[in-house]
Amino acid sequence: MDVEALETEARSAIAAASSAAELDEARIRYLGRKSELKQALRQVREREAGMALNAARERLEQAVAARQEELHRQELDRVLAEEQVDVTLPGEGRPRGHLHLLTQIRREIEDVFVGLGYEVVYGDEVEDTRHLFDALNMPPQHITRSPLHTLYLNGDVVLRTETSASQIRVMEKREPPVYIISPGRVFRRDTIDATHAAQFHQVEGLAVDRGITLADLKGTLLNMSRALFGEEREVRFSTDFFPFTEPSVGLAISCFRCGGAGCAICKHTGWIEMAGSGVVDPNVLRNVGYDPEEVSGFAFGLGLERIAMLRHGVPDIRMFLDNDLRFLRQF
Ligand code: DAH
Repeated sequence: MDVEALETEARSAIAAASSAAELDEARIRYLGRKSELKQALRQVREREAGMALNAARERLEQAVAARQEELHRQELDRVLAEEQVDVTLPGEGRPRGHLHLLTQIRREIEDVFVGLGYEVVYGDEVEDTRHLFDALNMPPQHITRSPLHTLYLNGDVVLRTETSASQIRVMEKREPPVYIISPGRVFRRDTIDATHAAQFHQVEGLAVDRGITLADLKGTLLNMSRALFGEEREVRFSTDFFPFTEPSVGLAISCFRCGGAGCAICKHTGWIEMAGSGVVDPNVLRNVGYDPEEVSGFAFGLGLERIAMLRHGVPDIRMFLDNDLRFLRQF
């Protein structure tokens, strides 16, 4: 076998390979297990001849590696030259999300009250009956204490049915003056329909200080109503009843759609019920260790879903939790 001739032939095949695949073909042909060179190496008996064969094999292996490197560099150069990125092409857009309508309204209300010097306090969704009912002056036989109305988790541990428990939590921990609002989710064992949900959101408000009167409540809620529904809004208060306020008053705002003339939204009354409120019952103040002779206060509670439904014409309360982007994107 003519080693030299074979090496020359192999070298030119390696040099001629113009792609990784062609180079591989040449490598297998001249250096593979069945190649002439490898077979000769297996059969060789003399030391001299063996060394010559091995030296040729080594040189050819180096030639293959060198050519491989060269081809790789050529390919890189080609890619760099040909596959230039056009940085002026438009990028792939990522749709941007936004806050849920209820979150937007919650923040609007928070802004209004923070502007008035109130603090935002988030209460717990799981409460005990002492904070949710007893301390709020609810008599033992009060209807919402029934397991048909309130979801009992365990003994006196319940899912709160209203954010009013936050009033007690805050007053227990602090001395007056207290100016807080407390937004959050509440739970009721209600049958779900277009206007009832087993969970929804409220914002509670509480102000306790020396000399607080119903007039302060009125001014505060007027301010909030105008911020949420427009500067032209008027408010109207009517008698109501809540165990934790005395007197209790319901807040209605002049209809933002018809301005009071009467329309479907205000059920042709010109007024829309907005919130429950009142002067904090002295019993509630006593329950948290405050002296009703020293301080007085007002409280209110309103529903976020209701505000959203009225203001944006949302016909069904279930839409807020459906997670249908066609709905959510509108706000
Ligand atoms: N907790 C009442 C409800 O869920 C709303 C409410 C009414 C809260 C009067 C108050 C209040 O703080 O004074 O219907």
